[in-house]
Amino acid sequence: MKFFVDTAEIDQIKELNELGMVDGVTTNPSLIAKSGRDILEVTKEICSIVSGPVSAEVTALKADEMIAEGRKLAKIAPNIAVKVPLTWDGLKACKVLSDEGNMVNVTLCFSANQALLAAKAGATFISPFVGRLDDINLDGLDLIADIRQIYDNYGFKTQILAASIRSVNHMSECAKIGADVATAPASVIKAMANHILTDKGLAGFLADIEKAKIKIL
Ligand code: G3P
Repeated sequence: MKFFVDTAEIDQIKELNELGMVDGVTTNPSLIAKSGRDILEVTKEICSIVSGPVSAEVTALKADEMIAEGRKLAKIAPNIAVKVPLTWDGLKACKVLSDEGNMVNVTLCFSANQALLAAKAGATFISPFVGRLDDINLDGLDLIADIRQIYDNYGFKTQILAASIRSVNHMSECAKIGADVATAPASVIKAMANHILTDKGLAGFLADIEKAKIKIL
């Protein structure tokens, strides 16, 4: 499973990228607003750090305006994936931008039917929001499994980009189901390294290092 980091914070992207943990980046208007930076400028900087796909989201609601915005975003760098919302106009924009050779990420997906439409419109990525379904007492991971089954049934090439990932369990469950990509905040990716037994085991080793005065350098 590929890891995308869901942020527009340069420091976080650099830190994970140096460890080889970043296969791509996703941003959205909320993350751009949080960064306090200009969308074109910050997106360009991210694209210069990361070689994989960098999602940049349109702001318009009408298809023709989304297409114009998408074309402008795509000019930032060759690794831009234009992000459009899963509305009827978003699907129209997806079809046009995909046919022009751009990567397109269709976001705000909350149902298997929406994912089916995005695949037929030529989306490179579909972004089902796991955490936000969990928030309303539905099972976001069930949606990832349903889309996996549907895409595999028909050989759709659209990649499942599990989004709104909130926990380390979401990450491992998405990997078990077979999501192609999970996009998560840097904090979630870093928390995957934690285990209480690792901490306990290390404390025991440190005590014995001290007792036996073990020295390597
Ligand atoms: O990838 C989409 C993500 O930014 C939304 O996450 O936690 O606000 O639902 P969240």
